[in-house]
Amino acid sequence: MKVSVIGLGYVGSVAAAALAESGHDVLGLDIDKKKVEAYRKGPLPIFEPGLEEMIRKNSSRGKLKLMHLDEVSEPLGEVVMVATGTPTTESGAADLSQVRSAISWSLPRQRGPGAVVVKSTVPPGTGARLWETMLRGTLQEYVANPEFLREGQAVKDWFHPDRIVIGGRDERAIERVRLLYQGIEAPVVLTDITSAEMIKYAANAFLATKISFINEIAALSDRLGATIDDIREGIALDPRIGPGFLRAGVGYGGSCFPKDVRALDYLALTSGHNFELLRSVITVNNRQRLLPFYALRQRFGSVSGVSVGILGLAFKPHTDDVRESPAMDLIKILVDQGAKVQAFDPAAARTARAVLPSGVELMDDMTECARGVQALVLMTEWPQIVDADWEGLARLVRPPRFMFDGRNALDKKRMLALGFEYSGVGRNGRHPG
Ligand SMILES: NC(=O)c1ccc[n+]([C@@H]2O[C@H](COP(=O)([O-])OP(=O)(O)OC[C@H]3O[C@@H](n4cnc5c(N)ncnc54)[C@H](O)[C@@H]3O)[C@@H](O)[C@H]2O)c1
Repeated sequence: MKVSVIGLGYVGSVAAAALAESGHDVLGLDIDKKKVEAYRKGPLPIFEPGLEEMIRKNSSRGKLKLMHLDEVSEPLGEVVMVATGTPTTESGAADLSQVRSAISWSLPRQRGPGAVVVKSTVPPGTGARLWETMLRGTLQEYVANPEFLREGQAVKDWFHPDRIVIGGRDERAIERVRLLYQGIEAPVVLTDITSAEMIKYAANAFLATKISFINEIAALSDRLGATIDDIREGIALDPRIGPGFLRAGVGYGGSCFPKDVRALDYLALTSGHNFELLRSVITVNNRQRLLPFYALRQRFGSVSGVSVGILGLAFKPHTDDVRESPAMDLIKILVDQGAKVQAFDPAAARTARAVLPSGVELMDDMTECARGVQALVLMTEWPQIVDADWEGLARLVRPPRFMFDGRNALDKKRMLALGFEYSGVGRNGRHPG
């Protein structure tokens, strides 16, 4: 099938390359000339394991063409997949302007009956409205096909999804979307457009709720002398609860959870429903990213003049994405309050540099990041950081060797034995481990 994917970000670039890999003829399109150029010639504008190889392979066998919108002269094909961004506006609502502009650009360029498949995360109710205002009367049908891939393992997730959700009004359009995924084994949830959109928001809101829930239990555990690792194990063994998204720490970040949870909250409010649970999830998460700052201030009296090494900048390991990353907010506060900050991330230095305050030194390796600082804060549990030579690092850090493990990723006993003043999240009880 001929497919055009509009928006070559973290989702669209993977979708375009993966659809080509599955045998479809794909045009991958973006409004950003530099980005398109980078995808064509490398290095890729984003870090995503396996993506570069898949792009190169399918470009050279003619299955994938990457273009700027202005370069397109051929019809877009029977399926146009929209994967543009849906950032948050100041009110918390999702900004749908990129989605609207991609659809209005594509409609006159789709010849014959086809489908506009929206992969971007859009608030429930959006698709029905877009169909009514933009697609009604055209030959194109609207299909909601939310995406669940995770950055850092996006290629794997594309080919092995937990489910494929398709929401539509028209059988033929739905069938076209099913065909896109031919060969991929996964349960398919067929539903209406608004329910498909809600599935995406409900999934993200639920996972965010699990994270804030365990962070609340961790906060209470610190007060009562209980240890969150054991509590997590004890509750995760209940199959009704499960282990996922139950790790206490500095909270969720990234380009999806924060904005989607806020957008759902906004949507609830504007629909006349006060979603109090969701509001608390957001409040708890905002607090969590400040925990290292509170801990440093408590230890040093003030962070002014304190030298701090930040380990990890990406919102999670295996990505270079720093959007809404807890580390970014922490660093801004520390710098604001006069701390001397240096930082290390195995992949996100480039993306972080663009948004970090100028005084922050970005180090090429962990050793340099630890050398001479009084405190280390682990913000992203990259394997390179967790499995580092901590004996060596301990010798480089100056007393009092304060360590805040924002992801509960390190062995507390070992860190204490190495001379660190170790602090985790919900790990500060009387438990010997
Ligand atoms: N990043 C994730 O892990 C993830 C996972 C699931 C769903 N989503 C959702 O998918 C959507 C895309 O997310 P992303 O992280 O890939 O976003 P992104 O910001 O990385 O990429 C969006 C791309 O769209 C391009 N663009 C914007 N307007 C355009 C237009 N009018 N025409 C052509 N290109 C245009 C931008 O230049 C950019 O390259 C969002 O709605 C997001 O919530 C993201």
